[in-house]
Amino acid sequence: MNKIETVKIPRHVAIIMDGNGRWAQSRGLPRAMGHRKGVEAVREAVRVAGDTGVGFLTLFAFSSENWTRPETEVNDLMGLLKAFIRRDLAELHGENVRIRIIGARDNLRGDILPLLIEAEETTKANTGLTLVIAFNYGARDEIARAARKLAEQVAAGVLRPDQIDAVALDAQLDTQGIPDPDLVIRTSGEERLSNFLLWQAAYAELLFVPEYWPDFTRDVFYRALAVYAGRERRYGGIAAAAVTG
Ligand code: FPP
Repeated sequence: MNKIETVKIPRHVAIIMDGNGRWAQSRGLPRAMGHRKGVEAVREAVRVAGDTGVGFLTLFAFSSENWTRPETEVNDLMGLLKAFIRRDLAELHGENVRIRIIGARDNLRGDILPLLIEAEETTKANTGLTLVIAFNYGARDEIARAARKLAEQVAAGVLRPDQIDAVALDAQLDTQGIPDPDLVIRTSGEERLSNFLLWQAAYAELLFVPEYWPDFTRDVFYRALAVYAGRERRYGGIAAAAVTG
């Protein structure tokens, strides 16, 4: 691991945690067991991010589309998130982890929102890893909400339409103050972004790994970091070798 530590660690890794259900089904277990194992993988991913010097780790925990799942599964996922915050908040705080939650808040159940706010408030002065939990999150919804805020400012006369540019819109997103992801990983072999950080991932490296999320071990994370370290990022420019030689 020392080799990776001295090479190129992404500042921000964002993960689409996919495959909990298939992990369970392939073992003849109920889907809920897959989500439960998924929480263990979340804990390990947070530890690896902290150990390797990743500054920001964003995890897609619940999408705005996940409400269409059967009610029992939605309840399972809500229960796991609540239990995670209740059980792990003190430890994360002790490890200097700062928690941020992104996603829509207006239609959240009353028992969830206070916990999310407590997690952010308790850890807001921490200076270690920032753990960003995308909850009730959808990128198109996030961008639409940002556009609405800008429109409200125009209507209030505090912003002119010609002042609206990418920087102004970016500042209204839920991720305000969080750098764009350098690496977006999706587990389970699916190769889609599924409405995750569509604006912020404009220049991110994308990596699709075959492992189901519960099998996203320390080694799999290390391998993903090694792949990232070997990629050359050009941001729409040309290869460095072409400039110098
Ligand atoms: C995808 O698996 C995973 C999810 C929809 C939720 C991820 C949630 C957790 C790991 C637990 C709670 C999160 C935190 C941060 C404590 P899937 O059900 O879509 O799997 P499938 O595609 O195989 O059906």
